[in-house]
Parts: sequence; structure tokens; C-alpha cells
Amino acid sequence: MPKLKPSKGAPYARILGVGGYRPTRVVPNEVILETIDSSDEWIRSRSGIETRHWANDEETVAAMSIEASGKAIADAGISAEQIGGVIVSTVSHFKQTPAVATEIADKLGTNKAAAFDISAGCAGFGYGLTLAKGMIVEGSAEYVLVIGVERLSDLTDLEDRATAFLFGDGAGAVVVGPAPEPGIGPTVWGSEGDKSETIKQTVPWTDYRDGEVDKFPAITQEGQAVFRWAVFEMAKVAQQALDAAGITPDDLDVFIPHQANERIIDSMVKTLKLPEHVTVARDVRTTGNTSAASIPLAMERLLATGEAKSGDTALVIGFGAGLVYAATVVTLP
Ligand SMILES: CC(C)(COP(=O)(O)OP(=O)(O)OC[C@H]1O[C@@H](n2cnc3c(N)ncnc32)[C@H](O)[C@@H]1OP(=O)(O)O)[C@@H](O)C(=O)NCCC(=O)NCCS
Repeated sequence: MPKLKPSKGAPYARILGVGGYRPTRVVPNEVILETIDSSDEWIRSRSGIETRHWANDEETVAAMSIEASGKAIADAGISAEQIGGVIVSTVSHFKQTPAVATEIADKLGTNKAAAFDISAGCAGFGYGLTLAKGMIVEGSAEYVLVIGVERLSDLTDLEDRATAFLFGDGAGAVVVGPAPEPGIGPTVWGSEGDKSETIKQTVPWTDYRDGEVDKFPAITQEGQAVFRWAVFEMAKVAQQALDAAGITPDDLDVFIPHQANERIIDSMVKTLKLPEHVTVARDVRTTGNTSAASIPLAMERLLATGEAKSGDTALVIGFGAGLVYAATVVTLP
């Protein structure tokens, strides 16, 4: 048998740049109240959400991704041709094939970068980041673009009291590249498929096509069950990611959990006993839950407002439909 040459990659990887795109239309709670029996006070106190963004016809999954990616590439100080991989995490791109990543890779001007989509719900950014790190360290790409993008307004049942107020649209992107020391810690990730019924699409597309249901499919969830799981189980996963990176909460500068509900964020901060000096992302207030886009969007905003700075050590954790989760410690770009 011939001996194969081993692949040669960079010793380590890190995030080099971040960019975000939020649709122009800002939707306050009052708009949600047109279709559900609720109140601004209830939505704010139960979820923390005040406004969210909804995309218009031009703000497609590809268009929002290209905007966010352009900013991330500029922030990283590289050119699009240097990108060897484009990973798009989304559950709201309505064309099964081809992967939207290929269109994005082309329109950005990459040189035929490897491009593919992944479906990992609200953990999608962490899943993509882990794949990107692997590609760079393994040597199959020098720079990889990881995009989390959603148009969840297309998958929201505005008459469902349990979800109508939760979701928003947007795209967040990061450029991951080679580094002389670790800038992305070990990922603690997994899935709990026995709980897959707790967040799901109401019915398959084919049921709608075949006239078995009148309503276009939407995302539905058992809010309390998901809430309990997030609060109890995800704090443990976050702690495991700190342990795996070999640091303690005292070493952290920033905490960027999935932006699903501000009460979940508060509870995790408490359970993890995060010290006062740790900046906590609360982008959910004005962005809602944008699933795979939520962590990079929150990261971009913290850096843009100066609440976090380049080189800070941040714990990121995403969790959602599947149920799936992914947590890791990163150095901010
Ligand atoms: C959705 C969520 C905000 C609801 O909050 P909650 O405190 O669990 O609310 P509950 O479903 O227990 O309902 C509490 C009460 O409010 C009522 N209620 C439910 N939705 C309401 C709404 N939109 N407006 C006003 N009242 C509402 C319920 O009828 C219930 O009334 P009752 O006590 O008289 O029976 C919360 O469960 C949640 O955020 N879950 C996790 C979401 C999440 O992380 N998803 C991740 C997706 S990746």
C-alpha cells in the first residue's frame, strides 16, 4: 500500500474578523400584538425582547450573508480570494439544493472555495466554527468564512402566542484563520434527539404541498420544557467548555450565549457564578432570537459598541432545535 502524505495545516486557529447584517425594518412588540393576545410588558418581562428585525424581499438569506461576510472579510484584513471554505448555518433557506453557501462564495469573489450549508439550529454557529477550525488545522483551507443566517420571520406563525414574539432575521459572519497560539478552545458539543419534539417545524413541507394543512409550516416549541433544559443543562455544558479550555470564570472577559431569552441568560450567569467584570451579551433585546446568527451578531455588536475589545476571552454557547448544543472559549477578533 502506498504511504499517503499527511496533510499540513496551521498549528492553531482563531477568529480574525466579524461582521453582521440586521434587516432595515425594526419591528416593535406593538406589531406582534396585532396578531396575538399579549402585552408589551409580558413580552419584555418573559423574554427580554423589545424589538426585532424582519427582512424585506430583497434581504434574502444570500444577500444578508454577503453583507455580513463583506464586513467580516474587511475586519480580518484579508481578500475574498484567500478564503478556502464557506460554511453557512441556516434553517430558513427555502431552496433544498444547491447549498446557498456556493452562491455566497461566488458572489463574494472567493476562488472556488469549498462551500456547504449545515443545519444545526441555534447551535449552528458553534458547529460551523468547529468545522472551520478543523479545516484550518488539518490544512484544507487557510481562511474559512463561517456564516449564521436566518429569515425566521418566514417560519413564524404570527398567531402562535408561544413563538410569535421570539424570532428575528439577520446574518452574522466570522473569518477564521491560522494562529500561532490557540484562539478557539476545545468544543463541547452534542445532541439530545430524544427531545427533538420540543422545538420543531409544525409539519413537513410535503403536508402543505399536499393540502393536508392550510397553514404554511412554522417553528413551534414547548417553551417551558426548552427553558428548563437550557437553564439546567446548558450551564453545565458552558462550565465544561471552560474546563476544556483550562480557564475559570475569573479568566473570562465576555459571555456570549445564544440570544433566545434574557431570563435564560440571567440564569446561566448566576449558575456559572460569572464575576461582575464579565461583559454579558444581551443583544436579544433588540434582535430577538435569530438562531444561528445570534452569537456572531451579538459578538459584532459588543465589539462595535466598545463593550468588548479585540483579544478579549469570550465563552460562546449555542443551543436549540435537535436538541443540539455547542460551547467553546474564543479569543475575540
Ligand atoms: C416562550 C417563553 C418566553 C414563555 O415564557 P413562560 O414563562 O415559559 O410562559 P408559559 O408558557 O409558562 O406561560 C405562562 C403564562 O403566560 C401565558 N402566555 C403564554 N404566552 C403568552 C403571551 N405571548 N402573552 C401573554 N401571556 C402568555 C400562558 O397562557 C400562561 O398563562 P397561565 O399561567 O394563566 O396558564 C419561554 O418559555 C421561553 O423563552 N422558552 C425558551 C425559548 C427558547 O429558548 N427557545 C430556544 C429556541 S432555540
